[in-house]
Amino acid sequence: MTLLAAATAVRDRAYAPYSQFKVGAALRGAAGQVFVGCNVENAAYPEGTCAEAGAIAAMIAGGETRIAELLVIADCPSPVPPCGGCRQKIAEFADPGVVVTLATTDGQMKSMTVADLLPGVFTAAHMDRD
Ligand code: THU
Repeated sequence: MTLLAAATAVRDRAYAPYSQFKVGAALRGAAGQVFVGCNVENAAYPEGTCAEAGAIAAMIAGGETRIAELLVIADCPSPVPPCGGCRQKIAEFADPGVVVTLATTDGQMKSMTVADLLPGVFTAAHMDRD
């Protein structure tokens, strides 16, 4: 299954009664398996989770630790940009050159690299003191 098809399908299952903004994400792990996630909102608004976070949680639960490519889709006027927190979450598990595709349900697509999404990312290397 393509990432576009997987993300489109899982987006339908998003739980977004507060924003009415459904998001789907699909990623391919380094071993080739596809993992998906959708946003899951909460009456206590800050407790909601993004689609990308859900896909990453599914990946880790599934035994994969590296993202080879990722796609996110929403019904948006322009290709949906991952939020700042999700950019950091993606960067934890993807090399800087990994391609992230931002999509809309009406067929717009924009591809960027992880480095484009989060220049100057904070990584574990910044905690090395020797
Ligand atoms: N959202 C995502 O799931 N991913 C993004 O990249 C942008 C925003 C969700 C969070 C919230 O449930 C809704 O979209 C509106 O912000």
